[in-house]
Amino acid sequence: MAKAKKTTAFFCQSCGYESAKWTGQCPACKEWNTMVEEPVRMEKASGRRAKKDGTNAVTLSEIDYTEKERTETGFLELDRVLGGGIVPGSMILLGGDPGIGKSTLLLQVALHIAETGRSVLYVSGEESLAQIGMRAKRLQEKVSDRVESNLLFLCETMLSDIISVVEEKKPHIVIIDSIQTMFSEDVQSSPGSVSQVRETTGVLLRVAKETGTTFFIVGHVTKDGTVAGPRVLEHMVDAVLYFEGDRYASYRILRGVKNRFGATNEIGIFEMRGDGLAEVENASEFLLSGRPKDASGAIVSCTVEGTRPLLVEVQALITKTNFGFPKRQSTGMDYNRVSVLMAVIEKRLGVPMSEYDAYVNLAGGMKQKEPALDLSVVLAILSGYRNVPVSPNMIAFGEVGLSGEVRAVQMAKDRIREAIKMGFTTIVLPKASLAKLEKIDGAEMIGVENIREAAELIR
Ligand code: TYD
Ligand code: MG
Repeated sequence: MAKAKKTTAFFCQSCGYESAKWTGQCPACKEWNTMVEEPVRMEKASGRRAKKDGTNAVTLSEIDYTEKERTETGFLELDRVLGGGIVPGSMILLGGDPGIGKSTLLLQVALHIAETGRSVLYVSGEESLAQIGMRAKRLQEKVSDRVESNLLFLCETMLSDIISVVEEKKPHIVIIDSIQTMFSEDVQSSPGSVSQVRETTGVLLRVAKETGTTFFIVGHVTKDGTVAGPRVLEHMVDAVLYFEGDRYASYRILRGVKNRFGATNEIGIFEMRGDGLAEVENASEFLLSGRPKDASGAIVSCTVEGTRPLLVEVQALITKTNFGFPKRQSTGMDYNRVSVLMAVIEKRLGVPMSEYDAYVNLAGGMKQKEPALDLSVVLAILSGYRNVPVSPNMIAFGEVGLSGEVRAVQMAKDRIREAIKMGFTTIVLPKASLAKLEKIDGAEMIGVENIREAAELIR
């Protein structure tokens, strides 16, 4: 006897992994307690269908690939993360923790685009019209006639109704806030489940490609496994942006993690103010503000995010270990990388690091993985250990290898320029990088070959 076909499966609400059996931990993303049973969508009987009209393979010369005009969002920072503005017909996912400012950002974008004469539809499944109205009022005191005629709001969660409004009004840009509240009748599970979120995004994607409408989709990052997170959608959409930052601090970082129309790794820096988000023009100045000038265990370094050099302060607090086992902690940097660098210091310089606790921190809440920070981590640790402050006008960058050698990094010239622009006068960099540069005025360059040479600078 044929077994009845299973109509449910277990989906990881964090990454979308599908499994026939329940497991406590997701085998794919290793999150715990995220597997939830959901009905699976009944697929049409497989096999061959009659070919429908208009399905044709084309040659390269038949493809019309002229770059369409991009729409500016009103935020240069956002435009840059998107690779130069919004591409028509694209689908952009904006992820982030609840309360970080996703709705605020997109409402400001909507107001700007409407002001420039293009139509926008803002669909909210989370807030009432009155709430959105209040927020808009807070962002923009006076609403112009252009905004009045170009910006429409809709409080709706039923997908089919939203699509009929899109088809009727033909807006240039549609904002869906948030995808986890949207609901398609074709899927039986509740809004926010993996199947719902995938299905609604899939349908909207089709609408976007057919009509040339751009969709911004908001996705909340969730920690408990009850609602599907934006990661489930990352592979479907054209661009994925994450809005990060401490909810209680004012700055926000917009990070591009996927972009089919531009470079990834770009970041934009914003500040949350009483009247909405504002761009931070000089990010390095912003990140270095409040820096103590002659404290030991701190040094400025320069990292590159996408195409932009950014100055950050690396701090290290080194104290004698009270118990047998030394404590290590890192904030904003890879913990393992810091441990490796401490082992290199111990071995190559003979500093007894294993007798000391170390707390290494990237000031300003930045998160960085770039190896170019290595040298500054080493110098911050040595400065903290020796209790000797580093000159406040000095910056250092370079990758450190396991033999203690300081290796060349990319974009050395851009890093140096940024440092000079911000008033730094001594730049410690890999000798190999220095050898490749032409002469640069404005600062003293110190090329180092290994961390022993660099350590001489902290006396
Ligand atoms: P919101 O955009 O609602 O977050 P999300 O959509 O990501 O959940 O942001 C809400 C927070 O932003 C809230 O804590 C209040 C704050 N906020 C300001 O500080 N200034 C403003 O002008 C606005 C509109 C919000
Ligand atoms: Mg919101």
